[in-house]
Amino acid sequence: MQNSYYNYFNNRHPLLQALPIGYCFNEFEIEKIIGKGGFGIVYKAWDHRKKCAVAIKEYLPSAVVIRRNDLKLNLRCSSLQKRFKIGLHSFMREAHIMSYFNHPCLPRFLRFWQQNSTAYIATPFYRGITLKLLQLKHPKIITQNWLCRILFSLFDALNTLHQAGYLHCDISLDNILIQNNQLPILLDLGSARKTTEHLSDDEEITVRSGFTPCEQYTANEEGQQGPWTDIYALGAVLHTLIVGKPPPVSIVRSIEDHYQPLTKRCPTGYSLSFLHVIDCMLAIKVSDRPPSISKLAAMIKPAIIQACQIPTSHLPFLYQIS
Ligand SMILES: Nc1ncnc2c1ncn2[C@@H]1O[C@H](COP(=O)(O)OP(=O)(O)OP(=O)(O)O)[C@@H](O)[C@H]1O
Ligand SMILES: [Mg+2]
Repeated sequence: MQNSYYNYFNNRHPLLQALPIGYCFNEFEIEKIIGKGGFGIVYKAWDHRKKCAVAIKEYLPSAVVIRRNDLKLNLRCSSLQKRFKIGLHSFMREAHIMSYFNHPCLPRFLRFWQQNSTAYIATPFYRGITLKLLQLKHPKIITQNWLCRILFSLFDALNTLHQAGYLHCDISLDNILIQNNQLPILLDLGSARKTTEHLSDDEEITVRSGFTPCEQYTANEEGQQGPWTDIYALGAVLHTLIVGKPPPVSIVRSIEDHYQPLTKRCPTGYSLSFLHVIDCMLAIKVSDRPPSISKLAAMIKPAIIQACQIPTSHLPFLYQIS
């Protein structure tokens, strides 16, 4: 009995379901696992043709499928077929959205293919560290000026998504990777969707405790979600980086709000005006948040100018519109 219990949990574990090191998809050879979650595994691989590293994301919902010895996937039970297909559809959408954008801070789409009864997306491998790990390993790096320099690039990436009518919907510390050249990459377009797109009843909504605003838990009505939805999650990222934890869960806040404004907490090294902007990003009421990245950029402009040492006249267009 104990044995089958262990087997049950072990073979649900995504690591044990991963493809072996050395496995090849034509010119791509898997070198190691770099990420794993409930819906997939991310591998670092070597591109023997172009002589460079790539990241390969495999769709593998570990609660739904199990890897066979021939490395193909089997449904854990035939009734899960629909769930697998819905997830696969979202995975294909991720590839499609990625292929649509060409921005230095969004992952660059290289290839999508189907194999092993599942699907794969290849992007360049970005050398760096996620904000989650950076906060753990190098917390001293995080200062107001450093955050402003990261925001300067992230605003542009997010604005590009928003202007094309998309929302990221899963901004978090492990979906922002700081490259060795300090340029951030906004990873994981797996939850991204068109602002106007309605979720079907079967589709799963991504929620991340502390990062997801109220409207994302419930919304299917047009107009409820918008750039302000990503702005809340970005505010939660900044809050976590500054005080060590995300704000209280938004749904709980909407019943009784115990959020302590950063302007009251006054963490050292941060200006009140910068903290005030983050408090606004984290407003529970949508109408109290900056409605767009350009409005947000305008609010934070003085801190950005100081951190990036850019004369006002040289700021990108985004900062000229407010
Ligand atoms: N192109 C890349 N270069 C370097 N590291 C990457 C890359 N893509 C992903 N990673 C690493 O793998 C982790 C997981 O990637 P990603 O966020 O895309 O997948 P996921 O969270 O498992 O996906 P999902 O939330 O859609 O299930 C990231 O946090 C990052 O550490
Ligand atoms: Mg992720």
